[in-house]
Amino acid sequence: MKMQHDASGFTHQSVLLDETLELINASGGGDFIDATLGLGGHTEAILLANDANTVLGIDQDREALKSAGERLARFGERFAAVHANFSEIAAAADGREFDGIIADLGVSSMQLDDETRGFSFREDAPLDMRMDVSTGRTAAELLDEESEETIANIIYKYGEERNSRRIAKWIVEKQGTADAITTTRQLADLVERASRGGKKEKIHPATRTFQALRIAVNNEIDIIEPFLRDSIKTLKTDGVLAVITFHSLEDRIVKQAFRRFSGRCECPPRQPVCTCGAEKLVEILTRKPIVPNEAELAANQRSRSAKLRACRKLAY
Ligand SMILES: C[S@@+](CC[C@H](N)C(=O)[O-])C[C@H]1O[C@@H](n2cnc3c(N)ncnc32)[C@H](O)[C@@H]1O
Repeated sequence: MKMQHDASGFTHQSVLLDETLELINASGGGDFIDATLGLGGHTEAILLANDANTVLGIDQDREALKSAGERLARFGERFAAVHANFSEIAAAADGREFDGIIADLGVSSMQLDDETRGFSFREDAPLDMRMDVSTGRTAAELLDEESEETIANIIYKYGEERNSRRIAKWIVEKQGTADAITTTRQLADLVERASRGGKKEKIHPATRTFQALRIAVNNEIDIIEPFLRDSIKTLKTDGVLAVITFHSLEDRIVKQAFRRFSGRCECPPRQPVCTCGAEKLVEILTRKPIVPNEAELAANQRSRSAKLRACRKLAY
């Protein structure tokens, strides 16, 4: 596992690095897309695996692109980067086909560690949480504009937070007042107060609410399936798509999408003719998800919920 330091001293440990490289056969030589470039850890390893490899990196965060660009400049034309959401992978590929595509979903440690971005509550900061600060609503705007029910559902669904209803009620009570929730510490304190009396936990009670809001602000769940579909179109025959997830909801979407793309019919069992449109586009390479080994788990806390799944595009 590699620990990366960028120019500003941020660190990020690339998760399931060797396993990902092996699945996409990075040492065999080819053209790859890293759909979540981040600090460029996976990309750097791909570029080092074979002198003929090229990587097109995609990230929606300009800060990440800048750091990765500096780190990977030494690879010259073998590396290129675009500022885009990976839901736009087809446009980013611009008609080219690739031997492998990887995605390492979620936020980077650089984003979490940057106290000005609002992803964490170690310091007080504006409640932003957008990976792409040039577009979309901040978390504070979302909390100001949405109904109590919507906020509760977000916190429950994406954070699996038992106190979601109480937290949402307290947030909405403050909407439109001088005490409206606009900063990270305000939200963390509110969640802590709403969770008092519950059982003691290893993590701060606000962790789940912050995760849930981040997922909602960046629309992280809804774009996964269309991204997977477009990625398969963007691969050459025999090309491999490898996806690392950190949330059970994300992993379920990847698992079910890969099953569908592998031709598994999802029609009701007694239906005589298939109408679900199942098509055999890929072969699944990971019957069970690959998870970090003991050494990685011991060295990198963030890897503990990681799951890697991959599929290979068939001729069709
Ligand atoms: C976990 S980090 C990737 C770390 C990288 N693999 C490494 O080893 O350095 C995820 C990155 O993906 C980016 N990202 C997340 N969702 C994205 C999306 N929908 N479109 C483009 N980039 C996205 C984030 O901005 C972040 O920089």
